[in-house]
Amino acid sequence: MKSASSRSPSVTPDLRAWWMPFTANRQYKAAPRLLVGAKDMHYVSHDGRRVLDGTAGLWCVNAGHCREPIVEAIRRQAAEMDFAPPFQMGHPKAFELASRVAQMLPGDLDHVFFSNSGSEAVETALKIAIAYHHARGQASRTRLIGRVRGYHGVNFGGNSVGGVVVNRKAFGLGLPGVDHLPHTHDLGRNAFSRGEPERGAELADELERLVTLHDASTIAAVIVEPIAGSNGVLIPPKGYLRRLRQLCDRHGILLIFDEVITGFGRLGAPFAADYFDVLPDIVTLAKGLTNAAVPMGATVVRAAVHDAFMNGPEHLIELAHGYTYSGHPLAAAAGLATLDLYRDEGVFENAAGLSAYWEEAVHGLKGAPHVIDLRNLGLVAGIELEPRADGPGKRAYDVFVRCYEKGLLVRAVADIIALSPPLILTRGHVDEMYSILGEALKETA
Ligand SMILES: Cc1ncc(COP(=O)(O)O)c(C=O)c1O
Repeated sequence: MKSASSRSPSVTPDLRAWWMPFTANRQYKAAPRLLVGAKDMHYVSHDGRRVLDGTAGLWCVNAGHCREPIVEAIRRQAAEMDFAPPFQMGHPKAFELASRVAQMLPGDLDHVFFSNSGSEAVETALKIAIAYHHARGQASRTRLIGRVRGYHGVNFGGNSVGGVVVNRKAFGLGLPGVDHLPHTHDLGRNAFSRGEPERGAELADELERLVTLHDASTIAAVIVEPIAGSNGVLIPPKGYLRRLRQLCDRHGILLIFDEVITGFGRLGAPFAADYFDVLPDIVTLAKGLTNAAVPMGATVVRAAVHDAFMNGPEHLIELAHGYTYSGHPLAAAAGLATLDLYRDEGVFENAAGLSAYWEEAVHGLKGAPHVIDLRNLGLVAGIELEPRADGPGKRAYDVFVRCYEKGLLVRAVADIIALSPPLILTRGHVDEMYSILGEALKETA
């Protein structure tokens, strides 16, 4: 053990040891922002201020913070049974949660594989897609198609199908046999769109080009976020997702919707698959599944995908895949309490009811300094700023810090401010958010 003298005693903790994720560590540690408490729509900062949560933590605390029924469910479960192995054993709450999730999802998306994060849900989906074709005697279908500017977590599979250049360039070649569709962001044709942009459905036809290049017999799956969230809120053009579905059907390719952000009410419907009325073959979930109170991911597959694995000898494991913490009892308990809360309080209905007011508020920023685009869907907003000459991303970062100092948490991705509040917010919260953001924009060079 290292001596205590290597630690600097101070009221704030020693910040050196934690190598923080997706953080400019040196810049952060020179002027840290610490959160020490949370309740409903607010955080409490280490200097005792209430900070309105404009991002639902990280797109995940959909029912608001520290909700008593969820806290209580976790507390009870921790005392009753802390852990149960999920390999060749089970516990009731994981089965119950899987049934509840399957019931919520549309169509025959009926079978749920649990993991611990969005990244793991994605890895699971990609592996199931390849193994599905293998199980059906089409082992040549191994190629995976993602999309430029897509984000599917940080593990090697998700990072490979992802299309965020800064996340990819330092990590070698990634998975072989991966290709990408173009992104759908087109400021020239669609700037300041309200809801789904009018133009760009034809970008789905790029899949035909990839089929011509690689042949359908080598392609296992296409994975897209219905709304690309983490890379700056890119709303799909009208008809785009439906077209992608048709092309996947034509070529026997599985369609995966990564609903880690859009799942559990973000668009006012339970899932983006409902909102867009497009049924994928596989859906990935995390974040709002447990209201982020305990980490959990899930990969949900349609009946035909699941059933393709169920033909071999019954004593054999059908899918050689899983995590020690798949269906962890604390996560399962948190998930069940979360789904109850969503239902009992009409949380998704609140999101749906507020989305028109939200849209007006977002587009009320038109004409604010530096704003080159405003976009929205459900309770999501993207505010794109003109990059500053001294470096891309610096202007949005300044706005983010200013908002935080004024009592609002927003997220900055390059020069895009993303907003995705807890779905329990009121009109008053919407007004407060956009008023603070408007002030911060005015004060930012
Ligand atoms: C669409 C999407 N997929 C996957 C992930 C990864 O989730 P996690 O950070 O829980 O691994 C994210 C995280 O933001 C996401 O937005």
